Formats: sequence, C-alpha cells, structure tokens
Amino acid sequence: MQAAPIGVFDSGYGGLTILKAIVNELPQYDYLYLGDNARAPYGPRSFEQVYEYTLQAVEWFFKQGCPLVILACNTASAKALRTIQQNNLEKLAPGKRVLGVIRPTSEVIGNFSKTGHIGVLGTKGTVLSESYLIEIEKFFPAIKVSQEACPMWVPLIENGEYQKPGADYFVKQHIENLLQKDDKIDTIVLACTHYPLLINKIKQFTPQRIQVIDQGKIVAESLKNYLQRHSDMASQCSKGGSIQFCSTGDSADFDEHAANFFGKPVKSAKIEL
Ligand code: DGL
Repeated sequence: MQAAPIGVFDSGYGGLTILKAIVNELPQYDYLYLGDNARAPYGPRSFEQVYEYTLQAVEWFFKQGCPLVILACNTASAKALRTIQQNNLEKLAPGKRVLGVIRPTSEVIGNFSKTGHIGVLGTKGTVLSESYLIEIEKFFPAIKVSQEACPMWVPLIENGEYQKPGADYFVKQHIENLLQKDDKIDTIVLACTHYPLLINKIKQFTPQRIQVIDQGKIVAESLKNYLQRHSDMASQCSKGGSIQFCSTGDSADFDEHAANFFGKPVKSAKIEL
C-alpha cells in the first residue's frame, strides 16, 4: 500500500486549531484537511445527521488514500466516532484507523486539576452526548465534571464576530453558568475545537485561579505517542511535510477565515461530499 497523508476533519474551521498543534509536534508528515463548512455547524444537529456527514467525510478521506483520519471535532467525535469504529471501519477499510479528540483529552485532563473539579465547555451535541462525563470517569473516577453548552459560540466564531464587543455577553453568560454549577472548578477544558479563538475573552471572564485548557497540544502529543506505538500505521503515513486544505464551502471564504485558525495563509480547494 502506498503511503498517504494523515486526514484531519472538522465541521468547519475549528479543526485547524488541532492541525496547527499536530503540525507543530509532527512536522515531518503530510496532512490533508477537510472542513465541512457547507454544513457547519454540527453542534445543533441530530446524532443521525452528524454520523451520516462524518461517515461521508471519512469515506472521502479513505478514497484519497489516507490511512489514518483524525476527527478534530468534538461533536463528530462524540456523535459518530464510536459507531464508525464499531460498525463501518471493518467493512470500509479494515487496515485504516479513525481517531477522535475526546479520548486523548479525557486521558490527561484530571492531571491538570488540584481541586478535582473540572468544567467542560462544548457544543450542545457534545454536552448532550455526555461523552466527557463517561470518558473522564474511566480515567479519573474521583473527579467531578460539570458541563455547559455554548450554542452561540461557534456561529460567532464562524461568522468572524468573536473579537467584537457583542461576543462578550455570550462568553460571560456561559462561564458564569458553568461556575454556578460548581464553584470548586479549577480547570476548564475547551471541548470544542473552535473555542481557542475565543480564549482571550474566555480568560477575561474567568477568575484567575482557574486554568483554561485548549486541546491542541494534548491531541498532538497523543497522536505522536500513538504513531510511536503503531509503527505499522506510521509507515503508511507519508512524510513530505506538505499540507493540503479542502472545504465543502466556498474556497475564497475558507481561505479568508482559515488563516485566523491556522495562524498562516491557507489556499484551499472546494470538494463535494
Ligand atoms: N469544532 C467542532 C467541535 O469541536 C464543532 C463546531 C460545530 O458545531 O460545528 O465540537
């Protein structure tokens, strides 16, 4: 089998915050990014719809030859990953792998907290799935996890409104709601890959004793570790240091916004799923 890029998927731009951290940690590999911007946001969509869209994206990555696909989207990881791993992968491409962002985050997040009280901020889909409650409990059974869904944050970010004063109201409201659920929280995890764009505002409305954790580095370190442990998979991932960007939405729009997430200019191609 010919080596091919590692696929990185998100509903839109958010996964670029994860890709940026992955490229930083593992610059030697080739990457293929896909944002399903035409159908974002996924947060308010049903399980069935997120599963169907994510499966289409995974099939597209496999057609491009990718041996490994990272769902760099908490909503897709929460609503589609397990079903794809258990029901589809064996039939689609038995040697290939699909990984998410919830498990690697849950594996280490307990180590950040001294009080044993953690807050999770995510989309409605991620929060309702209770994936973080279930996964963190497996690794840190004594930790208390409280969640808050922030349905306005992704639209604010996707529409470029996140630095405007109007965004303050929605950020402050959800931080306060979360801390009302548990005032012992000392660690907040940004459980949506879009939220790092709001990190300055989030920190502005969060008491200083609380640390705000972005998933990028955690996911990148976990992938590095995975590839070290799975040399068969690592050898199927091509090493040329290239990055290709694709979107189901308008390319000019994607390129304009994507640079804010990726930290560098981006040139994308439009594809259909
Ligand atoms: N970036 C995605 C996540 O991590 C979701 C954004 C959306 O609602 O599409 O959850």
